Amino acid sequence: MTATLDDVSRPITQPAATASDAPPLAVVCRGVTKEFGSGDAKVQVLLGVDVDIPAGEMALLVGPSGCGKTTLISIICGLLTPTAGTVALFGVEQQKLTGRQLVDFRGKNVGFVFQQYNLLPALTAAENAAVPLIIQGVPRKQAVARATEVLDQVGMGHRANSRPAQLSGGQQQRVAIARALVHSPRLLVCDEPTAALDAQSGQTVMELLRETAVQPGRGVLIVTHDHRVFAYGDRIVRMSDGRIESVETKAAGTHAAEGGAH
Ligand SMILES: Nc1ncnc2c1ncn2[C@@H]1O[C@H](COP(=O)(O)OP(=O)(O)OP(=O)(O)O)[C@@H](O)[C@H]1O
Ligand SMILES: [Mg+2]
Repeated sequence: MTATLDDVSRPITQPAATASDAPPLAVVCRGVTKEFGSGDAKVQVLLGVDVDIPAGEMALLVGPSGCGKTTLISIICGLLTPTAGTVALFGVEQQKLTGRQLVDFRGKNVGFVFQQYNLLPALTAAENAAVPLIIQGVPRKQAVARATEVLDQVGMGHRANSRPAQLSGGQQQRVAIARALVHSPRLLVCDEPTAALDAQSGQTVMELLRETAVQPGRGVLIVTHDHRVFAYGDRIVRMSDGRIESVETKAAGTHAAEGGAH
């Protein structure tokens, strides 16, 4: 099957119009629970998560180690199935999709940045960033050309032909962000994108995410432990022991990227 870049960027399922005609939220979780194991080894990790993430802004998910952040975003992205509860992305309830539809929906609409970059060592930066397009059937040459454009946007155009081992941690993270953005996903989810970076590279990555990913109609959800990046969020969702503890929103114009020297 051959796909075009346009095919790849368009969502497969149009969300149903809501009564108020308000744009659908990027993410809606209702009663999401997750258990791992069974019998004596059973661990209850999520205890009923209800959370709404609007589009057009950057939401941060914060909380102590082990409280369930990675588990929750893995469920939001469709990498894990919840034990109970529902997740809707842009009005499309994920639990109503078949396995194939879910893979398709995720491939077209979700970009994911892992904590440890997960770049393929044998591929160049441009080839790594092109992977989501190639998986969807975009011809390789076209996919690599688009990936090179996105590498340019993240300040890595000059290293498009380098392999991951030749790049610093911050540079690899920027390639991983380019890979997550290459198919213009409606939802971008990042797990601790600055954890392995020094303060300066961490700031560069957060500024880059604000500039490239925060757009009307698109959702951005970032897990972080890192107090230095809290200022970049428009909304801070605090988690504790498998539940949402509080949600704090900031007035427009008060986050670091707008108020700072950038
Ligand atoms: N596959 C699994 N099997 C059993 N337990 C698991 C599994 N995955 C996660 N857990 C447990 O679920 C809990 C939450 O893990 P999770 O990775 O979601 O935490 P986190 O908030 O992302 O922590 P960190 O900030 O350290 O990354 C932990 O107690 C963890 O041991
Ligand atoms: Mg985690």
